Amino acid sequence: MANNDSSDRSLTNLSGPLVLIGAGKMGGAMLQGWLGLGFAPDQAVVFEPQPSGEIAALAARGVRLNPPAASVRDAAAMVIAVKPQAAAEVVPAYAGLAGAGTVVVSIMAGQTLRTLADLLPPGAAIVRSMPNTPAAIARGITVAVANPQVSAGQRDLANRLLAAIGTVEWVADEALMDAVTAVSGSGPAYVFLLAETLARAGVAAGLPPALAAKLARETVAGAGELLRRSELDPAVLRRNVTSPGGTTAAALDVLMSPKGLAALMETAVAAATRRSRELAG
Ligand SMILES: NC(=O)c1ccc[n+]([C@@H]2O[C@H](COP(=O)([O-])OP(=O)(O)OC[C@H]3O[C@@H](n4cnc5c(N)ncnc54)[C@H](OP(=O)(O)O)[C@@H]3O)[C@@H](O)[C@H]2O)c1
Repeated sequence: MANNDSSDRSLTNLSGPLVLIGAGKMGGAMLQGWLGLGFAPDQAVVFEPQPSGEIAALAARGVRLNPPAASVRDAAAMVIAVKPQAAAEVVPAYAGLAGAGTVVVSIMAGQTLRTLADLLPPGAAIVRSMPNTPAAIARGITVAVANPQVSAGQRDLANRLLAAIGTVEWVADEALMDAVTAVSGSGPAYVFLLAETLARAGVAAGLPPALAAKLARETVAGAGELLRRSELDPAVLRRNVTSPGGTTAAALDVLMSPKGLAALMETAVAAATRRSRELAG
C-alpha cells in the first residue's frame, strides 16, 4: 500500500532527534528531503567521516555534525545509510544511540532484519528498506519491511522519513526484498541500458551519434514522465501508440517475440533476485 499523502509527510513534533549515520548519496538526499519538509535542522544529528561541502554547509544551519555520541539522547529514529559492507563495523559502533523508543531504519542493500537485530541492542525496533537512485531527485521508490518490535507510530515515522525521497511501499514478507531489489533497486540501470541500446541502434540505422543519443535520452525520459502522469496501464499506453501494420508494430513484433524483451527481462530479474539472495547470505 502506498503511503505518501501530504498529510503523512510532515516531520514536526518528533519525540527526539533524528540520527543519520552515513551522509553519502542516499543519506545526503534523505537529509535534504527532511529539511525540505520543515524538519528543524538542530534536531538532525549526522555522523559522517567525510562530509561533502553541502553536508558541511548544513552544519551552519544548525545540523549537528559528528557530535560526541554521548551527547545524543533518545533519538526518535536512527537511519543507517552506510555501504552494506561497512554494516558489521559501523552499526555496533552506533548501537548505543538506539534507546527504547528509537526506530532504526536501514537502507543498506541486502542487510536482513535478523543481521541488523544481531548488531543492535536486544529488542530493537528495525525497519529494513530498499530505495533506488531516483531518490537523489526525490523520485525514488522505496520498499520497506518492519520487524515485530516496530510500533504503528514508529512505522508511520519511518514512512515519513522514507517518503522524503519518493514513494514508499510496505511488505509484510521480508523474503520479497530480493525480488524488490531486482525490480526497483536495480531497475534504474535497466532503463539507462535501454537508453544506451536505443541510441546505439539509432546509429546502426544511420543517425549521427549525438542525435541518436539525444533522441534516445529524451524518448526514455519523456515516456517515463508520460507513464508517471498517466493512470493508464503501460500496456494500454503502448497499444495507444501502435497502429496496426505501422512502424511501431514492426519493432514490437521483434521485441515481443518469444525470445524477446519479456523473456530477457524475466531472466535478468531472476538473476538479480538470485544474486540478492546470495549476498544476503
Ligand atoms: N545508491 C543506490 O542506488 C542505492 C540504492 C538502494 C540502496 N542503497 C543503499 O544505500 C546505502 C548508501 O549508499 P550510497 O550510494 O549513499 O553510498 P555512499 O555515497 O558511499 O554513502 C555512504 C556514506 O557512509 C559514510 N560512512 C562510512 N563509514 C561511516 C561511519 N563509521 N560512520 C558514519 N558514516 C560512515 C561514507 O563515508 P566515506 O565516504 O568516508 O566512507 C559515505 O559518505 C548503501 O547501503 C546502499 O546499499 C543505495
